[in-house]
Amino acid sequence: MGEIELFLKKRSEGGLLRMLRPIAGRKDGRIRSKEREYLDFSSNDYLALAGHPMMAASARQALDAFGTSASASRLMSGDLDICHRLEEKVAHFKNKEAALVFNSGYQANVGIISALYSRSDCIFSDRLNHASILDGIKLSGAELVRFNHNDPEHLKFLLESHRQKFKKALIITETVFSMDGDRPPLKELVSLKERYDCEFMVDEAHATGIFGPGGSGVVEEEGLSAQVDFIMGTFGKALGSFGAYLASSKNIVEYLVNTCRGFIYSTALPPSTIAANITAVELIQKDPSRGKILLELASCFRGALTSSGFTVKGASQIVPLVIGDAAKTMALADALQERGYWVLPVRPPTVPQGQARLRFSVTLHHNEDMLRSLVDDIAKIGF
Ligand SMILES: Cc1ncc(COP(=O)(O)O)c(C=O)c1O
Repeated sequence: MGEIELFLKKRSEGGLLRMLRPIAGRKDGRIRSKEREYLDFSSNDYLALAGHPMMAASARQALDAFGTSASASRLMSGDLDICHRLEEKVAHFKNKEAALVFNSGYQANVGIISALYSRSDCIFSDRLNHASILDGIKLSGAELVRFNHNDPEHLKFLLESHRQKFKKALIITETVFSMDGDRPPLKELVSLKERYDCEFMVDEAHATGIFGPGGSGVVEEEGLSAQVDFIMGTFGKALGSFGAYLASSKNIVEYLVNTCRGFIYSTALPPSTIAANITAVELIQKDPSRGKILLELASCFRGALTSSGFTVKGASQIVPLVIGDAAKTMALADALQERGYWVLPVRPPTVPQGQARLRFSVTLHHNEDMLRSLVDDIAKIGF
């Protein structure tokens, strides 16, 4: 048996084989698949902007004006001026000097980290950081030092023993963790960054649009935009579109335009996507209360789960119900699907061994009644 067949057999026997599950459509918080409709608890369209009429209208206008493609990378002839408008908006939204748009969050993290750091540097990364962060660190060649999840004491211990061996050092974390829905002690991380002369990067993929008085994210909420050197985020989650950005200094943006291979060697985002991204930022700036309403809804869901005897983690719109065993997690996801809920089972290697879970994503498509019925159904099924 060849290496690939053996891999597939092992994954399959362990119940860990990842499979694509085609859906016929997704709209208004519902998924249509095989002639049935499901209530969607799996999407990152937290603020229900993906179906917002103004998003569609601006994308359509750009489609009519510019066609379906940017047709070249930004440094060739794909540098439409609407992209610069978007970058100005993002820089203002994130309270930084400048911003640069990337084609996806994955591409942004890999490209930014590998362009800015090299073998003579060291990167202190939260143990639960997203795969794209890890891949960026690997590609950079920098020394990877992983600190225990959300544990500044452990980070301090590691900084004490490693920092002075390296020229440049970066501390990197997510501001809302994608699988755990929790937040880091950002102020403590900032004070360690300052004490040990490091740079600091955050990934606000799951925080942008939701946290902070202006909806900009956790960095805004904690008043730390001046202290965070690199604020990365995506348009594909709460902003209901696609793509990503880095908000930072003008010099960093200029440096990345010249060195970041993921930025240089890739066709720019389609103009319709850029236009939708501009509208998404404007919608949030005009009405940042969407995030607050979402967090209240998520808190109501968390409360109902806790009252029914379940243990839940996190403090955001991402509500993980950790079951532990991968097979039991799959069985619960299947039983919920039978009852009309589309919920993501998350298993190793996406999460550590023994921490398989259902990841409920609360969105503005939901209401309190839906969330209470879901909790009742989970309790009835049991696990
Ligand atoms: C924390 C985090 N960073 C980056 C990404 C990648 O973003 P994108 O989907 O735009 O590639 C994700 C998406 O899953 C994520 O959860």
